[in-house]
Amino acid sequence: MIVLGVESSCDETAASIVEDGQIVRSSIVASQYELHEEFGGVVPEIASRAHEQHMIPVLRDAVAQAGIELRKIDAIAVGHRPGLIGSLLVGLSAAKALAWSLGVPMVGVDHVHAHLYAGMLGREIPRFPALGVVISGGHTSLYRMDSEMKLTRLGATIDDAIGEAFDKVAAILELGHPGGPKLDALAAEDGSDDRAFDFPVSRLGKESLDFSYSGLKTAVLYTAKGRPAPPALKGKPPLPKPAVPELTDERKRDIAASFQRAAVKALTLKIGRALEHIDDCRTLIVGGGVSANTLVRSEMSRMADEHGLELLIPEMAHCVDNAAMIAGLGTKLLQAGYRDDFSLSAVPTAAC
Ligand code: KG4
Ligand code: ZN
Repeated sequence: MIVLGVESSCDETAASIVEDGQIVRSSIVASQYELHEEFGGVVPEIASRAHEQHMIPVLRDAVAQAGIELRKIDAIAVGHRPGLIGSLLVGLSAAKALAWSLGVPMVGVDHVHAHLYAGMLGREIPRFPALGVVISGGHTSLYRMDSEMKLTRLGATIDDAIGEAFDKVAAILELGHPGGPKLDALAAEDGSDDRAFDFPVSRLGKESLDFSYSGLKTAVLYTAKGRPAPPALKGKPPLPKPAVPELTDERKRDIAASFQRAAVKALTLKIGRALEHIDDCRTLIVGGGVSANTLVRSEMSRMADEHGLELLIPEMAHCVDNAAMIAGLGTKLLQAGYRDDFSLSAVPTAAC
């Protein structure tokens, strides 16, 4: 079964052709980093316009790179949730137009769930039940997985996503965009000390499987840029802002490494807790942009070894947003009989 996947939920326009849900025949991603860089984050209107410009060339490239004719495509899979509504609509409209003109079925795919399929591309389908961990710019969620398609959410962030925390800390340290990979590289530099600062690891009580990254981000802000001045007493002059050491390159490196250690510690802590909720768990499945992080990758393999689990983590190209994961999970949904008609809508939130 040859499925064409379309992805446009945030700031990457992507198309991919996947055979039998496993073999990636092509995967094209057009990124928009430069367009959003000066604003320090993704601007929804700019993103939708760029998707409109990139969509047709990206689709053409995906078909050309796969070396197949359009009429060989058996179905279309499209990421229709969650994401920026204007961005999702561009991919969804392209997918509908293609499905209609080729006369093939179409299925909508949840982008967050698709991140967990990314590690299954080119591999055997793993054994279930599994613990699924999505760590991206928009999501930090744990799932019990009884199949590639059957997911039950166990926990999620109550404020910032882990990738968002990486990006915001990178901005505080003035590392530039995209922040996550730059912070990862800085923390890995020789001489960095990940114990230099004792940043908080959020626990949210003894039982919680949820995450919180906003306190950690604020702790980094105060360490790097200083605390705000204390409130002035009535009738007294304003108090000065407490002094803060200069943000030297060495200090930046240590803050980056210490932040990363605390952020990943919160992750491993909740994964350890979640594993207690899944009897006979066989596999640890990780996906999303932050699964490209060096420390995350080594800690995930340590945890899998410690708990006797198989580890599925995507190859680097499939960690961040791509359409191969959409086509892959879409194939499984189509094979299970799922179909969507042209009334399919774009939805800003995840299905679970
Ligand atoms: O999955 P993704 O492409 O988009 C969402 O669905 O959100 O994830 C993007 C996120 C960004 O926050 C980016 O900074 C982060 O993944 N990221 C990383 C690394 N590579 C990408 N974070 C830490 N270390 C990395 N090496
Ligand atoms: Zn994503």
